[in-house]
Amino acid sequence: MSFSVPELSGSPAERYAELAGFASALIDGEPDRVANAANLSALVKATVPDLNWVGFYFFDGTELVVGPFQGLPACIRIPLDRGVCGAAARTGRTQRVDDVHAVADHIACDGATNSELVVPLVRDGELIGVFDLDSEKPARFTDDDQRGLEAIAAVYLDSLR
Ligand code: SME
Repeated sequence: MSFSVPELSGSPAERYAELAGFASALIDGEPDRVANAANLSALVKATVPDLNWVGFYFFDGTELVVGPFQGLPACIRIPLDRGVCGAAARTGRTQRVDDVHAVADHIACDGATNSELVVPLVRDGELIGVFDLDSEKPARFTDDDQRGLEAIAAVYLDSLR
């Protein structure tokens, strides 16, 4: 199998709709959570501009443990009461942070990061983990990015069934 980076076009919402289609096709029929997290991290890093870290943390029943990602090496374990990832996991709500330096609780893995989006991964009420994206650009993530990346997270969750 060879893979080419999809050329996305149109408005941000249209680009994300197209990306969700590529994401579904990429992991179609594969239920392995590590394989799908790895390929989705690679797809998003290759297609969504200005990201320095894209990846997954998995909940091990106690804390978040780093999974497949693209970017610099990252913190391995994050307790649920810490960081932006912990907040997403604890509350079940997407955390969008325009300036991570303004968040006392932020855990700096890559010092170059300025903004962050963390989508909780919850299936049938069960916490699976989080999908985490970092950018060097301040306020990188818009409403369209949030909706689009939540849709990619939903594609991932669907694949686990
Ligand atoms: N910044 C995150 C930690 C994970 S790294 O960004 C990869 C946080 O505050 O939870």
